[in-house]
Amino acid sequence: MTILYTDIRELVTNDPANADGDPLGIIADAAVVVDGSQIAWVGRATEAPDADEKVGCADASVIPGFVDSHAHLVFAGERSAEFAARMSGQAYEAGGIASTVAATRTADDSTLLAGVQRLADELLRAGITTFECKSGYGLTVDDEARSLRIAKAVTDETTFLGAHVVPPEFRDDRSAYIDMVTGPMLRACSPHARWVDVFCDRGAFDVDETRHILTEGIKAGLDARLHAGQLGPSAGIKLGVELGAASVDHCTYATDDDIEALAAAADTTVATLLPGAEFSTRARYPDGRRLIDAGATVALATDCNPGSSYTTNMPFCIAVAVRDMNFTPAQALWAATAGGAAALRREDVGVLAVGRRADFVVLDAPSFIHLAYRPGVPLVRDVVRAGKHLNQRVESRS
Ligand code: NIG
Ligand code: FE
Repeated sequence: MTILYTDIRELVTNDPANADGDPLGIIADAAVVVDGSQIAWVGRATEAPDADEKVGCADASVIPGFVDSHAHLVFAGERSAEFAARMSGQAYEAGGIASTVAATRTADDSTLLAGVQRLADELLRAGITTFECKSGYGLTVDDEARSLRIAKAVTDETTFLGAHVVPPEFRDDRSAYIDMVTGPMLRACSPHARWVDVFCDRGAFDVDETRHILTEGIKAGLDARLHAGQLGPSAGIKLGVELGAASVDHCTYATDDDIEALAAAADTTVATLLPGAEFSTRARYPDGRRLIDAGATVALATDCNPGSSYTTNMPFCIAVAVRDMNFTPAQALWAATAGGAAALRREDVGVLAVGRRADFVVLDAPSFIHLAYRPGVPLVRDVVRAGKHLNQRVESRS
């Protein structure tokens, strides 16, 4: 069945061919035809073909569904007290992860699954139509494998993060933990994961450990991505480039050298910035414009997790990126859609063009700029994922 979405005042396609090479590929007074789960036609409303059904968008703007390439959704408990302490001056430390690990290990499968489904639902309601989900709060062979099995219930973009931190029981023998991560844990987890990730930072894993773990993960058939440069400058950023990681995430303390390396690897490795983490840990913000001007491919993601960034709201991340990370509204929107797709090496999402998945968001706003201009306002009116409506709030059918 075909559906024509019309009366779109401003359609962001991320297809430069629609706008003389401009990355957002904006079409004014536009329409989209969806056939089943895919886009069948995109263009000016006056030229739209007939379809089985017609949906009027009441002069709203439409953007591609957000692609969230970094989220930690499988966990139990919450850490609001730690957040409150930070807001009164305490520093963020990787060690806080251990309290979520303890809660996660004692939770049963149905509790973990319910938590993941609740957050997946929040992500969708915020307009996120594709998202990644990491393990990393189990840190035993069985708890990591079950975290990934549970993540698989909500996304195919699953990431093995057994190297999140060294758990307390291995504190005195970190090499034994790394042997477990690269041995039995990797064997138990790789069937359920697409990606391998390491938290390469102060209080977590150093650069040599990270190289070893990612290399073993790659040998096991996983593709690499990593956390680096969140808590201080780190050779982990260049390591990610060297290993051909799909994405280096955080990059808060990226140096000129790191930025040059990321720019040279723009076709392979994305720099993913996580505004929610800087916001929620009261850290300094990285300069997105500096990365973009140098030629790096940049993504924005939520980093949804109970410690450093407990948000599922991509419009919030866009607003912070624009206000505090030097992105223009256009750069921030591209990074949260096409940039996220690049960070997950996905061709089928992030762009509204014929043959791509029909993932888009109808905004209660005349322009995408309102995502940053009206911070905190719930502008996501309607979400369509693979051709299906998720909220049936407003569309006026005719
Ligand atoms: O991406 N940096 C490592 N992992 C998370 C934090 C996890 C936590 O504090 O629970 C992050 O910010
Ligand atoms: Fe993270």
